[in-house]
Amino acid sequence: MEMGKMKKSLRIKIISMGNAEAGKSCIIKRYCEKRFVHKYLATIGIDYGVTKVNIRDKEVKVNIFDMAGHPIFYEVRNEFYKDTQGAIIVFDVSDRSSFEALDSWLLELQNEVGNQSEVDNIAVCVCANKTDKKRVVDESEGRIWADTRGYHYFETSAQTGEGVTEMFQNLFEGVVSAVENGGKKAPFTTQLGYSKDQVEAIQKLKAARSDYERLGVNIGASNKSVAPGSEEAFKLLVAARTTLLKKCS
Ligand code: GTP
Ligand code: MG
Repeated sequence: MEMGKMKKSLRIKIISMGNAEAGKSCIIKRYCEKRFVHKYLATIGIDYGVTKVNIRDKEVKVNIFDMAGHPIFYEVRNEFYKDTQGAIIVFDVSDRSSFEALDSWLLELQNEVGNQSEVDNIAVCVCANKTDKKRVVDESEGRIWADTRGYHYFETSAQTGEGVTEMFQNLFEGVVSAVENGGKKAPFTTQLGYSKDQVEAIQKLKAARSDYERLGVNIGASNKSVAPGSEEAFKLLVAARTTLLKKCS
């Protein structure tokens, strides 16, 4: 090949995170080997694999470090966080505890990488996996979790293959773009039709224990001390809440 036509090559490092049995190894196997294994074979410590992809004008050699999700392997996997450029963080839509564990995985990533700006520049794809099963975590919950943290969200099934190629393509493109940009990740544009502030406002309204709390009124306040116009304000608030909740569902 002539020198001028030679493709530029690049090596990148990807890791997988998420609870044991969420399907990390199966998602990787589906992508690299186009197959699915029903039997659960827990990853012991870490699995390492390599794959090659073409992203725009670059030949990319991807080093994949597939981590064991079980807590007993923490001492083994913690060695492998450094220099990570991309991560898949996986939960199982049929197992709520795997969704609730996502924040602790982020914490582990932050603690092991150590440097916040390095963490901020890691391309992350959230995989809501096992969409072929009866789900207990719905799509909007997963999307909001990912979006409010600036991560791309994908619904995947390692069994059927849904979303897997698209997810990896997005991840690799994200990493390559960051490398081309001197290691800085491109700014995240929300995939949702609403802002982080709106989402937080909804979560606050949902979490409020009473209508008084929603209004920001003290529980002890008597009817007499209610400020003029508060009844109208309350109606407006309820209407706004209904509209926002509809938008989010
Ligand atoms: P650790 O290595 O222990 O951290 O687990 P892991 O996250 O790598 O899970 P693994 O990929 O080994 O999958 C766990 C179990 O879930 C296996 O029995 C898989 O067959 C099953 N599984 C994985 N993905 C899917 C999926 O998309 N759909 C269904 N129905 N089952 C899946
Ligand atoms: Mg595994």
